[in-house]
Amino acid sequence: MAQQSVALLNRSGQTSSDSRFQHNLNRRVVYMSSNNHPLGQQPVEQPIIPLLEGLATTRAIRRYKDEAIPEAHLRDILFSATRAPSGSNRQPFRFLVLTDSEKAAQAKALIAQSAQDIWTEKERNDGYTKGSGSNPDSPKSRMARTMREYVGHFGSVPVLILPCLIRYRDPDPMEGASVYPAVQNLLLAARGLGYGGVITGFHRPVEAELKTLLEIPDDVFVACTLTLGKPQGSHGPVRRRPLDEFVFTDSWGSSAHWAVDPPGTRFTSAGPPKKHKDNQEV
Ligand SMILES: Cc1cc2nc3c(=O)[nH]c(=O)nc-3n(C[C@H](O)[C@H](O)[C@H](O)COP(=O)(O)O)c2cc1C
Repeated sequence: MAQQSVALLNRSGQTSSDSRFQHNLNRRVVYMSSNNHPLGQQPVEQPIIPLLEGLATTRAIRRYKDEAIPEAHLRDILFSATRAPSGSNRQPFRFLVLTDSEKAAQAKALIAQSAQDIWTEKERNDGYTKGSGSNPDSPKSRMARTMREYVGHFGSVPVLILPCLIRYRDPDPMEGASVYPAVQNLLLAARGLGYGGVITGFHRPVEAELKTLLEIPDDVFVACTLTLGKPQGSHGPVRRRPLDEFVFTDSWGSSAHWAVDPPGTRFTSAGPPKKHKDNQEV
């Protein structure tokens, strides 16, 4: 094994022949785990939902039951997240998981205020109450209600996660590809175990305060926020545009003839509500 050519050390620096190890790629040393938590003996739970079905039903979930996520499931979800790829397998992603501590409450409250401010402005700017938004049964109204409820309850979400990227070079357009696959893995694993979540950018206006509160180093990029919990309601299928609008072959805009949605696919248009030139809502 390649690992045999490098030292096996536990975290206190003692050598060991234990085969349970973890790479520290920066220092080319292989660590064994010195954490004796019982979950180290427990395999990851294997959901029975088929992989592609789980993928097609992993929707943005913003309403949660008032239930904690057991540590065993958090472990399984975060283990799955960290199986994601990254450039040169540097594994620069880190996850700050905030549940029920005092610091967690402070971080949630900080982002909750930011979420309120962002949504209030977006609701006005994107005309959520205009046009079809005046009909309480319209998708736009339902979305606005969900968002109001979401930001109103942000401070008490069961789990808040800050997926982060340790920067090892100047910011680069491709750097997100070393953290966001892990974020999607996390959401898929959560879906498999009966949880749901959503990515947000609500942390951005308060990033400096968050970094101070949570002692996040300067060279760490907070990639997004994730809230997670047991969904209130069902997952339902993800809806997108028709497949042939996404998939081209040979030249840009030339749809692949096999790019046909399977039976029963439901569609939706892209983006927030459309506006006329005079900023009136349709
Ligand atoms: C980069 C990114 C940023 C997002 N930011 C927010 C956000 O700030 N607030 C929010 O409620 N949802 C946010 N979302 C969730 C999207 O609104 C959601 O994924 C999208 O509407 C598709 O939802 P669906 O999978 O349920 O169809 C974000 C998603 C991504 C990928």
